[in-house]
Amino acid sequence: MTNRPDLPSEIARRRTFAIISHPDAGKTTLTEKFLLYGGAIQMAGQVRAKGEARRTRSDFMQMEKDRGISVSASAMSFDFDGHRFNLVDTPGHSDFSEDTYRTLTAVDAAIMVIDGAKGVESQTRKLFEVCRLRDLPILTFCNKMDRESRDTFEIIDEIQENLAIDVAPVSWPIGVGREFIGCYDMLRDRLELMDRADRNKVAESIKINGLDDPALADHVPAELLAKLREEVEMARELLPAFDRKSFLEGHMTPIWFGSAINSFGVQELMQGISTYGPPPQIQNAAERQIAPEETTVTGFVFKVQANMDPKHRDRVAFVRLASGHFERGMKMVHVRTKKPMSVSNPVLFLAADRELAEEAWAGDIIGIPNHGQLRIGDALTEGEALRFTGIPSFAPELLNSVRATDPMKAKHLEKALMQFAEEGAAKVFKPTIGSGFIVGVVGALQFEVLASRIELEYGIPVRFEGSQFTSARWVAGPKPKVDAFVEVNKGHLAYDHDGDLVYLTRLQWDIDRIGRDHPEIKLTATKEMM
Ligand code: G4P
Repeated sequence: MTNRPDLPSEIARRRTFAIISHPDAGKTTLTEKFLLYGGAIQMAGQVRAKGEARRTRSDFMQMEKDRGISVSASAMSFDFDGHRFNLVDTPGHSDFSEDTYRTLTAVDAAIMVIDGAKGVESQTRKLFEVCRLRDLPILTFCNKMDRESRDTFEIIDEIQENLAIDVAPVSWPIGVGREFIGCYDMLRDRLELMDRADRNKVAESIKINGLDDPALADHVPAELLAKLREEVEMARELLPAFDRKSFLEGHMTPIWFGSAINSFGVQELMQGISTYGPPPQIQNAAERQIAPEETTVTGFVFKVQANMDPKHRDRVAFVRLASGHFERGMKMVHVRTKKPMSVSNPVLFLAADRELAEEAWAGDIIGIPNHGQLRIGDALTEGEALRFTGIPSFAPELLNSVRATDPMKAKHLEKALMQFAEEGAAKVFKPTIGSGFIVGVVGALQFEVLASRIELEYGIPVRFEGSQFTSARWVAGPKPKVDAFVEVNKGHLAYDHDGDLVYLTRLQWDIDRIGRDHPEIKLTATKEMM
């Protein structure tokens, strides 16, 4: 990750990021406050309220609500401080991790939200590891400081030790729980005071001339002030100072303390993203690296979502623009099929509403409605044959066979399954012997979600049943070797929705045996999508 002072200003002002957190840490609340400060909504509560209205429309969404999980991810754009923010929402539940991993391929930075009382939780750690694989810069927001929370040094230590990253406090909390009154801004020597009375109001900010400024005593009770002075002094001695280069390289995370529900600390965090966050970064393709300032437009699909809105029965492919200045109506080439594609109705997502995108720049996320041509990993260019790399597809960990309860609907079921496979919601395997399909997912809950969606969106009641197989591996190798392998393993083979060969088994022993018997055959648990 690098800072690029030479970027054209439209690109340089873009910030494309995701929020990672453990469920309940406050991601939804923080997102809502971002939109509020970004002027995308007028009143906090709208995102949730819109969500509620949408959810009541279906049983599936009811399930989402009951489980307290967010199944569908979207991208939201808004302006703040002269910057264009593109917030890509990541589904928080561990059952949907694959989707989340892919989302993180489309962003340049991440905000890690932790609960001040709970510290680093399991899901946060997993997501953090994914960010680390890509050296994504991470900004940390320690939330819920209005509640009893841990000692500030303890929280920082835990992040440093647990995640092996340097933590630089850029704000320091004053008081905890009921006594929490705000933060001391360590970079700008300001006092940020929280207004508990009005949760949607911008908190008060008071300029202070360092910790010895007598004006401090007017705002901070003596006891808290003594503690603040002592802690900030210790922090400056013991903890690293914020270093932008180290942050951009993924070695250091700046931490803000706040309370999303009280809108406190949110603006400072947003200023942190605009001031220190990375602009759109160089993207990797198999052929070469793509710089955002290149004049031709390129982009890749990192997510496909079907039936997002019952009013628009289409699929939306979410495309991260890797380079150039896109204008509505542009003729692009869909690299996988080599077909021209006129992108006449691209959408930008503003909270839950769609808006036609007249133009977009490298770093932006646009939605392209389509009828299934666009798949995850696909590249769009102005003609160059590019294959973006690094968008993984994972072997499912749970396999079930699926049947339509009404056998007359078997054909329709195939269509529905293929659509979900293309959307990336599940893996669908067609065994080379026999009829029917095997569906693979990463978490058990996904079977329930799929069953509800297939019934709701296609009117096909289905049953998932245990399959004789428990693992799937993609098969690769020189063609004659693969042919010989196919010949002797027919009962174990299937094709995925891309037509790629997959080996199914219930025994790790089988996988080990193939390693010995067919040394030139490679069985892999991930497939890079293209
Ligand atoms: P998530 O998306 O990460 O799962 O978290 P979400 O924002 O939904 O927040 C989880 C719960 O924590 C919510 O309470 C929310 O109101 C609360 N919360 C968020 N930020 C703060 C904060 O700064 N301080 C305090 N005290 N609470 C916070 P809930 O009761 O589950 O939902 P709700 O009834 O408030 O909607």
